[in-house]
Amino acid sequence: MEEKLKKIQQDYINKISSSKSLKDLDIIFIELFGKNGEVDQLSRQFKDLAKEDLKIVGSLFNLIKQELEKTISTKREEIKARVYKGLEDETFTFQHQVLEAKKRKGHLHPVTQFENEIVKLFNKLGFVQADAPQIDTDFNNFEVLNIPAEHPARDMWDTFYIDKSSNTQTTNHKLLLRTHTSNSQIRILKNNKPPIRMMTLGRCFRYENVDARHEHTFEQFEIVYVDKGVSMANLQFLSEYFFKSILGKDIKARLRPKYYPFVEPGVGIDATCVFCKGSGCKICGNIGWLELAGAGMIHPKVLEAGGINPKEYSGIAWGVGPERMAMLKYGIEDLRLLKSGDLNFLEKF
Ligand code: DAH
Repeated sequence: MEEKLKKIQQDYINKISSSKSLKDLDIIFIELFGKNGEVDQLSRQFKDLAKEDLKIVGSLFNLIKQELEKTISTKREEIKARVYKGLEDETFTFQHQVLEAKKRKGHLHPVTQFENEIVKLFNKLGFVQADAPQIDTDFNNFEVLNIPAEHPARDMWDTFYIDKSSNTQTTNHKLLLRTHTSNSQIRILKNNKPPIRMMTLGRCFRYENVDARHEHTFEQFEIVYVDKGVSMANLQFLSEYFFKSILGKDIKARLRPKYYPFVEPGVGIDATCVFCKGSGCKICGNIGWLELAGAGMIHPKVLEAGGINPKEYSGIAWGVGPERMAMLKYGIEDLRLLKSGDLNFLEKF
C-alpha cells in the first residue's frame, strides 16, 4: 500500500509540474480528489488494512494528499502569473487574443495611402488643400456650375437629397449629398484671389447601382488652377505629371473633347492603358487608353460667379477618382473590396 501511495504521489507531482494550463490542473484535481478519484478509491481500501498498517499508511496518505493539494495550488498561481505577464496559455484564449491584437500593427487604408501620395505630389507644385462640405446645396453642387434645374447633365449626377423636414439650416436651396468635389470650386474662387492653386479631396455620393466598378459612396480629387495665361497646355502637363508619377514613367496623357457644363472647352483625360501599355487589351477595350479624369478650362460664368474677371484670368479645373486609380495601380478587380473592411484584403497593402 505504501508503495502504491508513493507511486501515485510521484506520478501526480510529475503531471502537475508538466501541466501548461489551468484547465490541465482542473482535470488533475478531479482525477485526484473528485468522486471516484484516486484519493476516494484509496481510502476505500483502508478498511482491509491491519490496525498498525493503517496508522502508518493513514498518516502517509494525509501527508501526500496535502502535498498534492499544495503542489496544485502553487502551480495554479504560477500559471496565472505567467498569463498576466502576457505569456502564452491556451486556456486563456480570450486574453491571448487580446494580447495578439495589441501586438498587431494597423496601417492606413490603401486608398488613404494613395490619396496622401497624390496630395504630396501636388503640394510639390504649390497646390494647397481646400475643403468643401459633403452635404451641400443644390446651388453649389449644380447651379453655380452652370447646371440649372432640368438641365439634362443632372442625369449623370443623380444623388441623395436631404429631407426638408430634417433640415434645420436656413437655406432656400435643396440640400443634397455632393456628387463631386467640384462643389469646392465656387468656394475656392470666392475666397481666394488669383493666382490660385488649390486641391480638394473627399467623399462624394451618387444614386448608383453598386457593382464591381460603381459605388454610391466614393472619393474624388479635384484641382483648381487660376492665373493669367493658364491654358490647356497646363492641363496636359499636369495630367501627364500626375499619371507618370503615380502609374509609371511610360504612361502618357491625352485630352479628348468631352462635355461638362462648368468648363469650356471640356475634356476627358485618358492615360495609356497600364495593362497593355497602349497596344490594346480586354481591359481598355482594345483602345490602348483608359479614361481617368474630367477637366477643362473653367467656364467664364463660373469664374464670374466666383468674382474673378474671365477677361483677365483663366483657369483649369480637373477631377479624378482616386479609387479607380488605386485599383489600376494595385491591380484590384472589385471596387467593393475597398470598403469591405475585409482584413485579409486590407493587410496586403
Ligand atoms: N466633377 C466631374 C465628375 O464628377 C469631374 C470633373 C470634370 C471635374 C471636369 C472638373 C472638371 O473639375 O473640370 O464627373
